[in-house]
Amino acid sequence: MVKDRRILLAVTGGIAAYKAVYLARRLVERGADLEVIMTESARQFVGEQTFAAVAGKPVTTDLFGTDRVSPHTELGRWAELIVVAPATAASLSKLAAGLSDDLLSATLLATAAPVLLAPAMHTEMWEHPATQRNVTQLIQDGHRLIGPAVGSLAGGDEGTGRMVEPEEIVKAIEAAFAGPLSGWRVLISAGGTREPIDPVRYVGNRSSGKMGYAIAESAAARGAEVLLVTSSHLPLPAGVESFPVETAEEMADQVWRLAHTVDVAVLAAAVADFRPVAQFDSKLRRADGIPELILEPTPDILAGVTQLDDRPFVVGFAAETGSLEGARRKVTDKGVDLLVANNVSDEGSGFGTDTNRVTIMRPDGSTDEWPLLGKRQVADRLWDLVLQIRQS
Ligand SMILES: Cc1cc2nc3c(=O)[nH]c(=O)nc-3n(C[C@H](O)[C@H](O)[C@H](O)COP(=O)(O)O)c2cc1C
Repeated sequence: MVKDRRILLAVTGGIAAYKAVYLARRLVERGADLEVIMTESARQFVGEQTFAAVAGKPVTTDLFGTDRVSPHTELGRWAELIVVAPATAASLSKLAAGLSDDLLSATLLATAAPVLLAPAMHTEMWEHPATQRNVTQLIQDGHRLIGPAVGSLAGGDEGTGRMVEPEEIVKAIEAAFAGPLSGWRVLISAGGTREPIDPVRYVGNRSSGKMGYAIAESAAARGAEVLLVTSSHLPLPAGVESFPVETAEEMADQVWRLAHTVDVAVLAAAVADFRPVAQFDSKLRRADGIPELILEPTPDILAGVTQLDDRPFVVGFAAETGSLEGARRKVTDKGVDLLVANNVSDEGSGFGTDTNRVTIMRPDGSTDEWPLLGKRQVADRLWDLVLQIRQS
């Protein structure tokens, strides 16, 4: 899955640069968020306008004089994966040596993202001891190489050095993004719902959505297809499809519609238990006196999912203030496969914080108390646990 993945395609100066246009196109068709950089030599082979048109955005070609203040660090940090295709002997040698005297080499040095290299050159250049030394170094440095293939080369020659076909590179990119959850479709709910009182006021809670977003981000990073039903407005993690909602009713509609299509549902949203029976059409005014708010229960989203005939593996969340007894009852009453309970009145735990201290509860009555962790760490441990349970 490359959908919404931030991929930087670096094109260097070999004949196979024309094939990189097709590679760019395939990535865009699959929904990748693509940026293209080109070396000066690459532009001798294919015009930057071609890549700009395919990617739908300008191509970056220089360290200096562009709209970006610091293109190499910006692009290096932005990218989740960098693909150098074609990768010339010259560019391989710069990368192996750690040079950073142009946009490509500086970007490759300024990134922590994985780098996939698709070498393309004449056989003599590929087999030269210097190139082979560089390749050994690059592999040692943690870079991945795809190819070169054996076949016809420019000028009618035959041999090793042909860039692997764009389709193969796409597969390698997809494999690079595939993680332990690849092939899983997961549904996550996040945020606190808002139940309208009048057009400007609502009954709400303090949930920020950070825990649910961390779970979504972690699942996407592990290769899952992620559907996020959310009432929060946090920035959407890469590779996550969002279904914005506001009220418990809207959240229930979306979650129930999607739940039977997924393998795992993690319901981390703080859903209001009650909502005003009637919503006032116009803003309530102090002068009109104290309004009477009558509340009614909202739909029980968790129970609705566990009661589905083709139910997914269900992870519920319980926010408690004080004893976790209520959470323990929820495990059996709601029929969840795992419950993540937290005392939101604990310091560093619960709504709005970046950390959480949770207790994992299983239907067999066993519990695990996890230490205070960053929300992303909680999310990572949670997916490890779900994977372990589902594979046992
Ligand atoms: C017609 C032509 C074709 C070339 N094809 C290749 C090639 O396929 N692979 C390669 O490593 N170098 C090739 N080169 C040499 C590179 O363009 C040259 O080494 C250049 O400095 C590479 O710069 P770059 O890696 O910054 O793009 C070719 C040169 C010419 C004139």
